[in-house]
Amino acid sequence: MRILGIETSCDETAAAVVEDGHRLLSSVIASSVGLHVAYGGVVPEIAARSHLESILPVIEQALKTAKTDWNDIDVIAVTYGPGLIGSLLIGVMTARTLAIAKQKPLYNINHVRAHPYACFITDTTLPGYQLISNAPALPALVMVVSGNHTLLALLKKHGLYHLLGQTRDDAIGEAFDKVAKMMGLPYPGGPSVSKAAKDGSPDFMRLPSASLPGGYDFSFSGLKTAVLRASQAMAGKDYTLPSTELPALLNAAQKANIAASFQKTAVESLIKPLKRATEEYRPRSIIVAGGVAADNLLRTRLTETFTSLPVFIPDRKLCTDNAAMIAACAYFNQSVNNPADPYKLTVEPNLPF
Ligand code: KG4
Ligand code: ZN
Repeated sequence: MRILGIETSCDETAAAVVEDGHRLLSSVIASSVGLHVAYGGVVPEIAARSHLESILPVIEQALKTAKTDWNDIDVIAVTYGPGLIGSLLIGVMTARTLAIAKQKPLYNINHVRAHPYACFITDTTLPGYQLISNAPALPALVMVVSGNHTLLALLKKHGLYHLLGQTRDDAIGEAFDKVAKMMGLPYPGGPSVSKAAKDGSPDFMRLPSASLPGGYDFSFSGLKTAVLRASQAMAGKDYTLPSTELPALLNAAQKANIAASFQKTAVESLIKPLKRATEEYRPRSIIVAGGVAADNLLRTRLTETFTSLPVFIPDRKLCTDNAAMIAACAYFNQSVNNPADPYKLTVEPNLPF
């Protein structure tokens, strides 16, 4: 079975063809990230316009790379939430139109629930992918770490997630993005912070890691503020200094030390609850997915920490937003999801997990 996945929830216009849920035949991503750099974050209107321009060429390219024509596509799967309303609308309206015109079943997919399905892509004919050789065994402990979400859940079986905890304020990717902005490092902040951290000392300063009583909720806003205060002090100023003035007052070595200390604290605040949850829930595997799973330190710490339990982290290209995870999620959830009505499917920008 070949599924065409379509993803447009944020600033990546993506389409992919996945066969039988695990074989990646194509994954095309047109990012409008370059258009947002000047603003230090995604501008929703610019993202939506860019999706509109890219969506059809991206889908055509995905079919072409997969050497697939419409007759070989069995299902269309599309992200319908959560995300930016204008961005989601372009993907959903395109998928609806194609489902009607090409007479294909349409599946609506929750973006956050789909991220972990990047780990079920175990085979490809495409160059440049380092794939996992076998799919994760269930029940799996799942951590989604992205620009908008940070959560821990137990995937008991396909279609049955049990949410254990989530962030009470900022997502971890958002914290990376904001720290990068404070240091004057380019957007998106995750890769910039990771890169700057390589030249810094992770033990340069102690930063607080929120420990919330009971449960598995996360919090990153205190860490972000602590980085701001420490940076203001390092620049010889007090808390009234606007963060926009920090980049000019800090040198490269100071920025590297701040980045490394932040990265270490942020990563450890994920490792600790994950470890505790493996002891409590005894899963058969661990899945860590979402944009921040591309972070070097997080990847290293995960493999170092969990030696007796298999840890699954997608290839970096499948950590950040892509459509392969949407198609794979649709495949494994067919028996629990009913197809959507292509005349009625609407977007849900605030779709809960
Ligand atoms: O999953 P994703 O592409 O989009 C959302 O669903 O939010 O995640 C984007 C987030 C951004 O905050 C970005 O800064 C972060 O992932 N990110 C990284 C890295 N690459 C992307 N964070 C840390 N290290 C990276 N290498
Ligand atoms: Zn995402």
